[in-house]
Amino acid sequence: SLFRSVKTLAARSSAARGFASESVPDRKVAVLGAAGGIGQPLALLMKLNPLVSRLALYDIANTPGVAADVSHINTRSEVSGYVGDDQLGQALEGSDVVIIPAGVPRKPGMTRDDLFNINAGIVKSLCSAIAKYCPHAIVNMISNPVNSTVPIAAEVFKKAGTYDEKKLFGVTTLDVVRAKTFYAGKANVNVAEVNVPVVGGHAGITILPLFSQATPKANLPDEDIKALTKRTQDGGTEVVEAKAGKGSATLSMAYAGALFADACLKGLNGVPDVVECSFVQSTVTELPFFASKVRLGKNGVEEVLGLGPLSDFEKEGLEKLKPELKSSIEKGIKFANDN
Ligand code: NAD
Ligand code: LMR
Repeated sequence: SLFRSVKTLAARSSAARGFASESVPDRKVAVLGAAGGIGQPLALLMKLNPLVSRLALYDIANTPGVAADVSHINTRSEVSGYVGDDQLGQALEGSDVVIIPAGVPRKPGMTRDDLFNINAGIVKSLCSAIAKYCPHAIVNMISNPVNSTVPIAAEVFKKAGTYDEKKLFGVTTLDVVRAKTFYAGKANVNVAEVNVPVVGGHAGITILPLFSQATPKANLPDEDIKALTKRTQDGGTEVVEAKAGKGSATLSMAYAGALFADACLKGLNGVPDVVECSFVQSTVTELPFFASKVRLGKNGVEEVLGLGPLSDFEKEGLEKLKPELKSSIEKGIKFANDN
């Protein structure tokens, strides 16, 4: 549907310029880390989204150039670039959705948790600013390790007295995008029709695709399901190794991030039945945060959906992932409270 909205964009945007307030509500989206590998293509895709009226691009360097470049595209949103701490408040003020791809990416041989020491501090300071300047915004956390950065954000917001569990999302859409692509290839079905929920978290074995619920049904043998599961869990590493030191997924991530932000905007605008997988505060398991299908609405999370029926292989995967996910969550909470 993102693709469709991009295709019809030229037609819609000229209408939106004149009549935005009549048809589509004004929505401000801020991207923090907008000059980075993910940030730049994500800025492009958000500029193409007709639901956005203002696009604020923030980074510690290089945003004026990115913003000038993207701003020449003849679509609805007004684009502004903000650089450095002094301008963070302005970038955030009035935002409906804040997308955070700020922080360092992996190199070969690293786990996502190896990024914790640098990214935890970045996320903490950005979230303190969100609490101050746009406390009611929906936050889409992309920065890794997501299993820890989302709990850090929650703690920062709790301390500031602004925490709304319905508005904090760890972006796991890339896991879903990968699961769909890999399943379609193996099952030889039309990728555009494929649906696969991915639950748990966003690192290694904490990523649990539920291929038993994949549609269209394909009745793949167990060994294919195992291989698809492993490839989905290692999808990020596949890209990190192929990029050989030049970073991790940026283009597919920008696509996934734009898709998830679009779903959040649709929810805010009252579009019914918007359901995406995301890492959110949860009671689906005994863990305080967990990724599962979530119904999005005018206030963010409308409903956290359950896991549905699991195969024995998936039940096993679920039990195996819990200790790692639990300790990543606790590490984030501890960091936020100690620093
Ligand atoms: P990158 O290094 O290309 O870009 C990161 C950007 O963040 C840079 O432009 C940098 O200047 C900026 N930045 C650093 N500190 C900042 C701060 N305090 N405020 C604002 N901006 C700041 O990295 P990338 O490839 O874009 O990846 C960014 C993050 O996204 C990494 O942590 C990566 O692991 C993560 N990631 C997550 C997913 C996911 O599925 N959730 C997928 C891919 C990458
Ligand atoms: C991904 O899944 O591609 C991201 O989390 C980046 C990474 O480090 O793998």
